[in-house]
Amino acid sequence: MQVVLSLFTGIGMLDIGFKELGFCVVSAGDTILGEHHDIRKFKAKKGVFDGIIAGPPCQDFSKARRTAPTGEGLELLNEFCRIVEEAKPRWFIMENVPTVPNVKIDDYFVQRFDLNAKNCGSMQNRNRHFQFGSYTCDFDNELPTLILNIKRDPSPPSVSRCVTASEGKQKDRRDFADFCELQGLPQDFDLPNFNQSAKYRAVGNGVNVLVSRRIAEAVKVATEDKEYIKEHELTMYGDLCACGCGRLLTGRQKSATPNCRKRLEKKRKLEKSLNLPSTVPPDDVFKQRIEINRTARAIEKITEKYKKMYENED
Ligand SMILES: C[S@@+](CC[C@H](N)C(=O)[O-])C[C@H]1O[C@@H](n2cnc3c(N)ncnc32)[C@H](O)[C@@H]1O
Ligand SMILES: [Zn+2]
Repeated sequence: MQVVLSLFTGIGMLDIGFKELGFCVVSAGDTILGEHHDIRKFKAKKGVFDGIIAGPPCQDFSKARRTAPTGEGLELLNEFCRIVEEAKPRWFIMENVPTVPNVKIDDYFVQRFDLNAKNCGSMQNRNRHFQFGSYTCDFDNELPTLILNIKRDPSPPSVSRCVTASEGKQKDRRDFADFCELQGLPQDFDLPNFNQSAKYRAVGNGVNVLVSRRIAEAVKVATEDKEYIKEHELTMYGDLCACGCGRLLTGRQKSATPNCRKRLEKKRKLEKSLNLPSTVPPDDVFKQRIEINRTARAIEKITEKYKKMYENED
């Protein structure tokens, strides 16, 4: 069983998907439980946790923000990085708004992607950003780079607007039961000791539970399914879509979806117009990826064959 440390737990909505799949989730607390749960006072023990899951506050990075950033967003993001460095888990997942800065933590390969609740079975249009890190030490190390392959459904024809943490204070707020349902909680979910605006804030701040399930499923496969890990071990040679959507490429694909192709084209043009070095991989990178993956797999197959032959001789 994997032991997972939950940071900025809130009421534990991100934790739900992981608990349902049998991960043992323990929380470092949250200031909604009291000031002595402040993450700045928390110190993590090295080697105890397989994974870390976290949703640091996003207000400072949110486009919807009407006041100047307080600086707390960056401070708490740094606290998250400090705890990862202390605990050195095999993997981490960090959730936030799409405009959050990229985390850079020594010895971790980070896969970045956005995921909308409407593509996870929810009727809510809620786009969120995730960063999945895997401890690799460096690319020569024996630990394979872990990569998530998230299952996405087509968008439903019409969806409800995104829930917000401040909706409880608004006149046009949705009924609390509907609000909970849009966040993937049961209609009768309640927090009886919270006042109205605190209830809406806690649920509105949480990760949509249907999204939490998709993430947890992908983490389970990426960290426990040996066949899957082996198959995606060579990801650093370009198995991830270069548009930054975090999707895996297969076969001869150069981008994961038609929209990715458009994003890459836009990026290429912008970089050219600004005279910046291109970050879009040239075509030969894809050829190289296919060639390297093919060769590595062929070598593996031959090794397997010889191993069997020798086993038979014994
Ligand atoms: C976006 S919410 C996390 C929601 C959670 N991931 C979930 O799915 O339910 C961010 C949380 O960080 C907590 N928080 C803010 N500052 C904190 C601090 N200094 N130490 C610990 N928790 C803090 C807030 O109380 C809030 O619950
Ligand atoms: Zn893409």
